[in-house]
Amino acid sequence: MQKKITLLLLLAFSCQLFAQTVTIKARPSDAAPHISKHIYGHFAEHLGRCIYDGFYVGEDSKLPNTVGVRNDIIEALRALKIPNLRWPGGCFADTYHWKDGIGPKENRPTIVNQWWGGSTEDNSFGTHDFLNLCELLDTEPYLSANVGSGTVRETEEWLQYTTHDGISPMADLRRSNGREQPWRVRYWGVGNEAWGCGGNMTAEYYANLYRQFATYMRDWNLQDDTPVFRIASGASGDDYQWTETLMKNIKPDLVEALALHHYAVTDWSDKGPSVSFDETQYFGTMREALKMEEFVVKHAAIMDRYDPEKKIALFVDEWGGWYDTEPAYEAGVLYQQNTMRDAMIAGTTLNTFNNHADRVKMANLAQTVNVLQAVILTDAEKMLLTPTYHVMKMYAVHQDATLIPLSFDSPKYTLGDEQLPAISASASRDSSGKVHFSLVNIDARKSHTIKIEAAALQLSKLSGEILSSAAIQDYNDFDTPGKISTEIFRGASLRQGTISLEIPPFSVIVLKGE
Ligand code: AHR
Repeated sequence: MQKKITLLLLLAFSCQLFAQTVTIKARPSDAAPHISKHIYGHFAEHLGRCIYDGFYVGEDSKLPNTVGVRNDIIEALRALKIPNLRWPGGCFADTYHWKDGIGPKENRPTIVNQWWGGSTEDNSFGTHDFLNLCELLDTEPYLSANVGSGTVRETEEWLQYTTHDGISPMADLRRSNGREQPWRVRYWGVGNEAWGCGGNMTAEYYANLYRQFATYMRDWNLQDDTPVFRIASGASGDDYQWTETLMKNIKPDLVEALALHHYAVTDWSDKGPSVSFDETQYFGTMREALKMEEFVVKHAAIMDRYDPEKKIALFVDEWGGWYDTEPAYEAGVLYQQNTMRDAMIAGTTLNTFNNHADRVKMANLAQTVNVLQAVILTDAEKMLLTPTYHVMKMYAVHQDATLIPLSFDSPKYTLGDEQLPAISASASRDSSGKVHFSLVNIDARKSHTIKIEAAALQLSKLSGEILSSAAIQDYNDFDTPGKISTEIFRGASLRQGTISLEIPPFSVIVLKGE
């Protein structure tokens, strides 16, 4: 008996220590969706040091800049191939009056940023500055119109100002401000978080208001095959009633997408530190981040009932990790460091979006520079790329590729009596025929063995990249900006159609098969 118990204990112990094997089946399908590049989108709000003292330093700055925007940021975002950029908020959008941000800068009125620290801004970064920046970045603008404290006329005129090519009061005003040609502005948010900072509305009230605004949002720019794409302010997390009400009350010809926001936060009144967290806090953050899968599935199921042909897209236009602001900064500026934990959030969340690319057509990481789960942090002349930047760059291979459906049962990441799936994965084939697998192991302690049954993909060559570090709390700081960066991964083998590899704890691997 004693012997039997010892054996059982030994078995249990070895299961804890040694890697488990997960078998992933990769089955290409003609019905698989295209992964919209817009899933890899970004978000820049007038918040803390995102715009001012982030992107925008002004033309007179001694930092190298192009019309006031830091050159190092432009270069880094171009390398990331960002497909779109959402602006000016967030909560800020429903306080923003776009006409205050056009014309000679010295004549522009100020605005008090009432949601984010009460700072007074001089409106020197306005519509022209943002849309010209998008052209420099070769990215599509996504403008959030003010529904909470704005008017239908204001939104209609903003659309006309930015996109009308003919003779009209707003197109003429644009020309008088130095821009002859309209910009290409396809994406228009109709308010933001209307259930909260966007006006504290009920879903029914917002649905009516949405219909009114959307009616006057016209396709001015008809010459260039860019119909206006209207995005209704969507639910937060598991607010399925919000989605149901909007789908029920908004006629399909008035809406092109519904938004969804979800942040990986364990406790809104005590979000915890961005760097010196323990494993329990890490586990809690991942539990919240992984809820994205359930939210996407359930909101999509509601949309399926009203829109079985999937004409209306789901845009997850705010997502990411949100912790306590770094102690050196004021609470309202939401400046936080970015560790390997954030790389885990990015890797798993992007896999979820890829795997649900039939409905998720856009997503926007919050936020690009110096705010929340930023891809870039700046400190005066210094600038660094975060672990999240590297994940976004590794995953850029999925942009506009065709999803390859995967099926597998993940081994568990166990902490105390709680468990989470340790492995997350997605795969796609790009237009040149190359196949990419993005694999994440969120387990803080154990590596796992992965076998991918990929015979159907007919691969003959394999290469890879890995993002990993010694501790889950590791991050890039301004003195060691290159501490965490991608490296070549040589640990995967391909034999008779099966790929085998060992994925280390808290790491992201992207494999390329040809
Ligand atoms: O991204 C920060 C804020 O989070 C946004 O302004 C708002 O939309 C959300 O609550």
